[in-house]
This record gives sequence, structure tokens and C-alpha cells, in this order.
Amino acid sequence: MAHKPDKHKKAKGKSKEKAALAKRKAASAKAEAKKVAKKKKRSPAKTDSVAEVPKVAIKVEGVEANETLVHDEANTATAVGASPTSEPLHDAGAWSFEVGDPAYDLRARALIARLESDLADHMERSKPVRYLHSISVAHTAEQMALQYGVDPLHARIAGILHDWDKVLTPAEQIALASRLGVNLGVDLHLVQPLLHGLTAAKRLPDLYPELPSCIWQAIARHTIGAVDMTPLDMVLFVADSIEPRRRDVPAIHHVRELVSESAPLDEVYWASFYHGVAYVIDTERYLYPGTLDIYNHLALHRMAPNR
Ligand SMILES: [Fe+2]
Ligand SMILES: [Fe+2]
Repeated sequence: MAHKPDKHKKAKGKSKEKAALAKRKAASAKAEAKKVAKKKKRSPAKTDSVAEVPKVAIKVEGVEANETLVHDEANTATAVGASPTSEPLHDAGAWSFEVGDPAYDLRARALIARLESDLADHMERSKPVRYLHSISVAHTAEQMALQYGVDPLHARIAGILHDWDKVLTPAEQIALASRLGVNLGVDLHLVQPLLHGLTAAKRLPDLYPELPSCIWQAIARHTIGAVDMTPLDMVLFVADSIEPRRRDVPAIHHVRELVSESAPLDEVYWASFYHGVAYVIDTERYLYPGTLDIYNHLALHRMAPNR
């Protein structure tokens, strides 16, 4: 009987100790979280390596509080507003595509460094996810270029600059497109997600007059596509839709597989394009009539007996 109170005392002491330990752990975790948050605040995401990108929260465009990377991208998009390429971004790691080293000379390296630095100044702080996506598209496009016999430097540059006008709000993109005389034959509000490629292609040559026009064409076409895409156009269009930061949903997985298997580039482009159209229809969104025209043209071409 005399031992019982002692046992209780001991147990009580132990549970007090446990509680104190838990309290200390919680306090230390809280302090650590505070430290990390402070550090993050001081230095926003800054990396030029797609392998080091931090995990980011993505929401659907239009409701996001900060930066997102969604459908508008849709090169595929052919359609307006959505495509499988518009799936939220993942952090890097799910898929990678390395062909080789383009072995640039010093001049090319300096140009890339300057453009990446300009891009960082332009959007890294205000659109960090978009910035990382652009760097990732550039790398993917460069590697695809090596695989498909396209100029890797042109592909890399097109990737770096392709989403330049995505720093603007949708309303600003529409206003800019209107000011620049972009005419898609429909109300620009209906095709807002497609406009940034067209506006960037009109404005960037003033900023970089030394760059060749093939880069501006690829950027202009990266949202809508075209019936007569050049290999560079196709490389950028596809790279935009499959870069490693995008989630590996079935449609994107399919296109990545085609690229990994080195399928013909026009087949890869077609797959990326029709997945975009299918996605827009599946999600019952507005389909830009020009997209349908491109789709029909490509489909008929594929059906031709002697193609
Ligand atoms: Fe993009
Ligand atoms: Fe884009």
C-alpha cells in the first residue's frame, strides 16, 4: 500500500517531464519555422537550375493570389484557356530529358547569361514560378533542339523569352494586344491566354534587334501553333508543354514518351496539339476557331495517303 503513492508520484513526474519535453520540442520547431520563413522572405527563390526549384503552390489561373503557371501556357492551346499542358507545375524531378552539351562558344554563353539575367530582372521577383518555368522550357527546348537537329541556341533563347509578357495581368495583356493591333478575328477577351506570345513577338525585337526573326516567330506561335510550323516552332511549342516542372498527367506523359523515344518531331507536335484540343473540349471551354482550323488542316494532312 505504501508503494502506491510513490508509483503515482513517479508516473506523475514522468508525464510532467514528457510534457516539458514536448513543449521544448514544439518551441524549437516553431523557432526553426520562423527562421526558415525569415530566410525565405529575405531571399526569394533564385536558381537557374530546374533541379533545385522549390516546391510551389499552384492554383488555377484567375483565382491565384500570387504566381501560378497554368493553362494559358497552352501552347496546345490551341484552345483558349486550357489544355493538359496547363496542369499545375510540379517541382522538378518527375521527368528529365538530357541529350548532350551544345558546346557553345564564349559569345553564345555570354548572350544566354545576359538574357537569363534580363529575364530575372523582368520577372523573378514578381513571377517566380513563371521565371523558373521559362528557364526550364529553355533547357528542354535546347535539349530537344539537339535531338531534332535544330539550332540549340535559338531554341534556348526562345525558351528564355517565350513568356515575357506573362508578367502582365490578363487585362493588361488584352489592352497591350489591342494597342499592338493583334487581331484573331474574335473578341480578345475570349482568347486572352493566347495573346502573350503574340505581343511578346511584336515587342521583343525592339529590345533585342540582334536576334533573328525565327525566334520571334517561335514565340508568337507557342500558344496557338500553326499549320506550317518550323522545327524551331515545334520544339518551343512542345518544350513548353512538357518541361520537367509540369505534372506528369497522362497527356503530358504521352508527349514526353514520344520525345524520349525520339519520335518524329511533327508527330510529337501533333500529339501535343491534339491533347490540347481534347482537353479544351473535355473541360467544355471556349475553343478558338483558329485552333480548329489548324487541327483540321493537320488531321487532313495526316490522313493523306501519300504523306
Ligand atoms: Fe510557357
Ligand atoms: Fe506561354
